[in-house]
Amino acid sequence: MESLDEAYQQRYGQEAPSQRDSLLPFLQHRSIRRYTDETIKDDLWDLCKAAAQSAATSSNLQTWSAVEVAKGPTRDRLADLCGNQKQVSAAARFVVFLGDLHRLESFAKQHDIEATGLPTAEMFIVAVVDAALAAERMVCAAESQDLGICYIGGIRNHPREVAELLGLPRLTAPIFGLTFGYPAPSGASIKPKLRQSEVFFEEKYGTPSSAEYDARIAEFFKAQGMDASEPWSFKSAQRARIEGLSGRENLIDFLREQGFLDH
Ligand SMILES: Cc1cc2nc3c(=O)[nH]c(=O)nc-3n(C[C@H](O)[C@H](O)[C@H](O)COP(=O)(O)O)c2cc1C
Repeated sequence: MESLDEAYQQRYGQEAPSQRDSLLPFLQHRSIRRYTDETIKDDLWDLCKAAAQSAATSSNLQTWSAVEVAKGPTRDRLADLCGNQKQVSAAARFVVFLGDLHRLESFAKQHDIEATGLPTAEMFIVAVVDAALAAERMVCAAESQDLGICYIGGIRNHPREVAELLGLPRLTAPIFGLTFGYPAPSGASIKPKLRQSEVFFEEKYGTPSSAEYDARIAEFFKAQGMDASEPWSFKSAQRARIEGLSGRENLIDFLREQGFLDH
């Protein structure tokens, strides 16, 4: 386990401005893709879920839900649908986070209110943000208890099959999955990130630049024995092409079928 200073160094290649050790869990995150067989006890899991529900949520609408899928054939099928990601099968726990306006729609019906605001971009964003905030708070709680996690965007590769497997009603959609488990001793490292000045601007938006980060993350990839032949900015830019989206460019059709984003 790193000290705060080591975590900060690995993140930015710079010295931490001060030592505030209670912040260490927030700086230490790294995605974990290999887990031990150890299970996560129910009491700890309950508290992690309580952390998720302790997140801020737009107007207290709580427009998210999560479906946990136990180890077994359905989990294995989801692993395939996520691009054959073995960690989905192997993790102690796997949860699919949903944007969920279905609950709100059912309350509207109950109170004889026409839910004309739900198929809007605004409400879709509300649901996605709610799901992400809840998940990340659960992640922070889990990581503070020595669990590892990995987000699984691959859950959006085949959204109709996922919806079928999980019995998703209209106005719900899988936003991402999350694997949880105790990290295998593989030594996953803290990944360098862009310098704060590239992300946190003062007064006005700044001009993007990549040279410093391209060099720093190339060093990290080399140290990890990973391919560093192409700069991070180039590889990232490729994701800006529609071909980089691996089929997810058609997600809008699924979302509209589910009743989202009509206008
Ligand atoms: C919404 C989201 C979806 C992601 N999907 C995947 C995924 O499907 N598979 C995977 O191995 N990692 C996935 N990741 C993990 C990212 O690759 C990882 O967070 C990023 O490379 C930064 O590394 P770090 O988390 O170790 O800091 C996802 C992360 C996020 C936030």
